[in-house]
Amino acid sequence: RGDNYVRLVEVGARDGLQNEKKTIPLATKIELIERLAKTGLSSIEAGAFVSPKWVPQMANSTEILSHILEHEIPSVNPLTLSFLAPNLKGLSAATTLLSQHPGTFETASERATPTTKTTRRPELEIAVFAAATESFSQKNLNCSIATSLERFREVIQAAKDLDLRVRAYISVVLGCPFEGYDVNPHRVAEIATDLLEMGADEIALGDTTGMGTAPRTKELLNCLRTAGIRNEDVAMHFHDTYGQALVNTAVSLEHGIRTFDSSVGGLGGCPYSPGATGNVATEDMVYFLESLGMDTGVDLDAVADIGSWISDEVGKPHDSRVGKAVLSA
Ligand code: HMG
Ligand code: MG
Repeated sequence: RGDNYVRLVEVGARDGLQNEKKTIPLATKIELIERLAKTGLSSIEAGAFVSPKWVPQMANSTEILSHILEHEIPSVNPLTLSFLAPNLKGLSAATTLLSQHPGTFETASERATPTTKTTRRPELEIAVFAAATESFSQKNLNCSIATSLERFREVIQAAKDLDLRVRAYISVVLGCPFEGYDVNPHRVAEIATDLLEMGADEIALGDTTGMGTAPRTKELLNCLRTAGIRNEDVAMHFHDTYGQALVNTAVSLEHGIRTFDSSVGGLGGCPYSPGATGNVATEDMVYFLESLGMDTGVDLDAVADIGSWISDEVGKPHDSRVGKAVLSA
């Protein structure tokens, strides 16, 4: 795609749903993923191979991946489907299924090879998730940052051995529910450098609490740049708790970042971040980015329909202002 392309990573089916107390039926999750794939979105997070005792809502991620492996998911653009895996147990849950369906997905090298084919098989991505503060690491992963990084080294190595793409999140980069605003950007840069050196293809910087502001977003990104981290290796993951996500997106765009996470209907919240609301809504991101002349490749009307539908299914008000405006226009 052209220079104006901005890649949106749709996290609604994972980040958006993981905090819901009521079990969302498997069929609804699959329908959500299938509908999203038809809007032009190319990166869709589909589940998490985490402990069901910690995050019960993600317990049927095995069934989701099985379904994806056994059924074609029609999509406008070649799909990358992502699953969280905090340890080797999580990774092997994904790769065991993958090995039962050889050739169904493209490997990372196949995806990187240009082709004239008009349809491509999906690609599987594994996502590990570190934290920028010790308290959040303990609450989310039950271990220190250092221990989590050692586990991720194994996960990343094993995923790379299978030629899988790897994303690495760092949570609470602009504010922590337990340590407040006191998050050291230099520590974030160190952790990002470690994860890239381990082989991660992309670092997703999570403003888990939505406490990020424009100046602090800028400070963080400058700090990463000084540490030698390239913009193309960074994605921003904003939650919109304080309504700052689009402002922080603008700052990130100006800095040169071109990958952003968002959640259809603004669904979401983190089980270990009390009070944090959803990710910035995909509808709001598409509208905002396209208004700046950027190309997302995403059909806004189609996403707005999905946002309204999934909010009803989950029993929540539709939390995208753009989505509601588009639907009532
Ligand atoms: P632990 O209790 O220390 O793990 O949890 P353990 O190794 O001692 O094992 C305890 C039990 O969990 C055992 O089962 C294991 O088999 C099982 P038992 O013998 O008691 O029956 N277990 C697993 N089961 C399924 N899948 C696995 C797995 N691993 C162990 N992969 C652990 C450590 C990491 C497992 C746990 O803390 C956990 O699952 N944490 C995940 C928390 C989570 O998913 N948080 C939300 C995602 S992060 C997020 O939302 C932020 C993000 O959006 C970015 C942002 O906004 O900042 C990404
Ligand atoms: Mg999140």
